[in-house]
Parts: sequence; C-alpha cells; structure tokens
Amino acid sequence: MDPSFWEHRWASGNIGFHSPNFNEQLLRYWPQCGIPLYAKVFVPLCGKTLDLHWLSQQGHAVMGVEVVPAAVEDFFAEAKLQPQKQKQGAFEIWSHQNLSIWLGDFFDLRPENLVDIGAWYDRAAQVALPPAMRKRYYQHLARILPSGAIGLSLAFEYPQEEKEGPPFSVEEEEIRRLCAGSFSVELLERQDRLSLEPRFKAQGLSRVDETMYRMVREG
Ligand SMILES: C[S@@+](CC[C@H](N)C(=O)[O-])C[C@H]1O[C@@H](n2cnc3c(N)ncnc32)[C@H](O)[C@@H]1O
Repeated sequence: MDPSFWEHRWASGNIGFHSPNFNEQLLRYWPQCGIPLYAKVFVPLCGKTLDLHWLSQQGHAVMGVEVVPAAVEDFFAEAKLQPQKQKQGAFEIWSHQNLSIWLGDFFDLRPENLVDIGAWYDRAAQVALPPAMRKRYYQHLARILPSGAIGLSLAFEYPQEEKEGPPFSVEEEEIRRLCAGSFSVELLERQDRLSLEPRFKAQGLSRVDETMYRMVREG
C-alpha cells in the first residue's frame, strides 16, 4: 500500500472513505478527551477530510499530512481557500491561517516537525494500512509525537477473512500491543455497526464494530 496505490485511488475518484460531513464520532468524543483548546492538532493521512475544518473551527491550529497532491489541491479548492506554499525538507506545506497540510509521506516526518503538537486525530489512517505498515505507523507516531500529546483514534473490527482491506480490521488487542510502552490506551466505546448499517451485511460481513480510543503519548 505505497503512495502509488493511493495516487491511483485519488486519480480514479475511488475515494469512498471521504465523507461530505464532519465525522460524528469526532464531534461526540473530542469534547470528552480533555484536549486543551490551545493544543495544535496533528491529523495523519488526512486526505481532504472536512474534519480539518471542524478542528480549526474549535480554535485549534491544525497540521495534516497527506501524500497525494490531488487530495491537498481538492481540500483547499473545495473550501475556496488560497493556500500559501512553502518547501520544508521532503514536504511542501500548504497553509491557510491556522490550518496546514504537509504534502508528503507521513514516514518522512521528524520529531522536530511536531514539537508544538498537543493532540492528534486518527480517522481512517491506521485502518488504511496493512498489518506490517500499521506496526511502522505506531512506531513512527511514537517517535514523532511529543510526550503528553492526547489522541482520539477510531478503528473498525470485522473478521478480516470475510473482506479485503482497506479499510482493514484493527482489533483492540493489536492496538494495545502496538501501543505498549509508548501510548496509554483507553477504549471510549465499542459500537455494533452491523445492525445499524445494512451495507455491511450486504458485503457478507458477520460482525462490524467501530471502536473509539483515547490515547496519550507516554514518556
Ligand atoms: C483512507 S484515506 C483517509 C483520509 C482521511 N483521514 C479521511 O478520513 O477522509 C487514507 C489517506 O492517507 C493517504 N496516505 C496513505 N499513505 C500515506 C502516507 N504514507 N503519508 C501520507 N498520506 C498517506 C492517502 O492518500 C489517503 O488520502
């Protein structure tokens, strides 16, 4: 699942993961996470999610990272915003007021790029990655996030043998294992989506849970 896979998805308009609305779980759980309003929020693998606007509207400075240029172009064009662009190492930073998207590879970010980050939000980032990359994802997140940063992290669980990812199933046990020693993990809620969304049964799935976690970078 390298950048060319995602380039292709964006070029062919195969972006079913993108929502025209703010994420319901973000609106519901963010206020419960104890994240200070002055905290700058990191959004890994951000796509063109409208959640960046919601976070910014709450008063947060926001930093997304996205590897596909078309996603970043769409984000600003659809919001009718004129971004400023600036090169920084492997990245081109597109920014408008308190909102910036770093165009480049998440795995190229360095701790010095995130020194002022106080929170992060993972929606459709970890579940976009196959197992070996998820391990790298959490290792890298632990390397670059400052100690004390608070995260709201969303995932799905379903029998992986019943469907191919992405989105992949990411079980609570795996999250706890990958986070051990780097992040504290609190399960905020587990919701059965199978009974709520008929499309999952139509896809042949026998179980779909959505999971919401509050995490804190330890150390
Ligand atoms: C499933 S989408 C989710 C997008 C967004 N979080 C949302 O909720 O709509 C995953 C996104 O991650 C981007 N991506 C994948 N690998 C990446 C990487 N290594 N660095 C930065 N972005 C990446 C893809 O281009 C895609 O836009």
